[in-house]
Amino acid sequence: MGNYYDVYQKDVWRNSDYNLMEKFSLKGKKGFVTGGGGGIGRNTAAAWAEAGADVAIVDLPGTEAHLETVAKELSDRYKVKVVPLYCDVSDSKQVDQLRDDLIKELGTVDIAHINAGVCLGGDDVDVPYDVWRKTIEINLDGAHLTAQLAQKIMREHNHGGSIIFTSSLSGYNANNFRGSPTPVCAYGTTKAGISQLARYMAAGLAPYNIRVNSISPGYVWSGIHEGVMDKEAHDILLEPVPLRRFGRTDELQGAILFLSSEASSYVTGINLPIDGGYSIY
Ligand SMILES: NC(=O)c1ccc[n+]([C@@H]2O[C@H](COP(=O)([O-])OP(=O)(O)OC[C@H]3O[C@@H](n4cnc5c(N)ncnc54)[C@H](O)[C@@H]3O)[C@@H](O)[C@H]2O)c1
Repeated sequence: MGNYYDVYQKDVWRNSDYNLMEKFSLKGKKGFVTGGGGGIGRNTAAAWAEAGADVAIVDLPGTEAHLETVAKELSDRYKVKVVPLYCDVSDSKQVDQLRDDLIKELGTVDIAHINAGVCLGGDDVDVPYDVWRKTIEINLDGAHLTAQLAQKIMREHNHGGSIIFTSSLSGYNANNFRGSPTPVCAYGTTKAGISQLARYMAAGLAPYNIRVNSISPGYVWSGIHEGVMDKEAHDILLEPVPLRRFGRTDELQGAILFLSSEASSYVTGINLPIDGGYSIY
């Protein structure tokens, strides 16, 4: 610490080669996103590709036709490597195979968006045990397994990194009200767990320069609402949203890029709401 004048003289923007925008660049970085074929995952892949990273988009076996199309479209547009990889994140054997596939295709992992998730029918206060189990297995066990994979590669290769989880506003609010078409008892419970997992990992991995954060989207149009949202339900859900509209998946890209890049080098352990102001009240 110097006196105030000395500190002012050392402001980095005084250096002629300093460029804040370069901190958002992901040139040379390697990343994977789970649920990469879905609405939010595709937009993470696009944000990373535009910022210069090579990307693996990871989704369920059986999504080959869709994922190959997305990968080709992204690599043609952004001139980076984009590869489709297939893995059910709740299956530990498939996650082991994913690790081998990632090393083979990308060499290492600098950034990971742990994003695969499901919201199953019947998930109200009387949630049947099979729905409960499946939600926990995919959303929470899957997040644990794939985040472990990411942090182990980052530590083995000793280069730090950034891990981002997709949590949800359902993880901090019991938004299961007034005829919601998507009651989310088990789902919200997994999302609360994911935010807390991010905090514990952030604390444990800070010494390795691995930052861990979560984002909590509010209502964002994507595949997860497919077939379960009618006009009445949509309007009811919007009542507590100050911006009075659903978000778009591209509106998460800025936050993802920030948390993935050096622009957020002093940010770890946060849960960032991206919810049109829902969490104000
Ligand atoms: N859309 C929203 O309003 C919203 C709000 C808060 C949080 N989220 C979360 O965002 C994440 C992405 O969802 P989305 O909105 O893009 O929905 P989406 O349905 O478009 O995408 C989810 C993707 O996850 C994949 N997936 C499902 N189970 C999987 C498994 N076992 N292994 C691997 N992949 C699997 C699906 O195939 C799909 O491509 C989810 O975790 C969801 O809970 C979404």
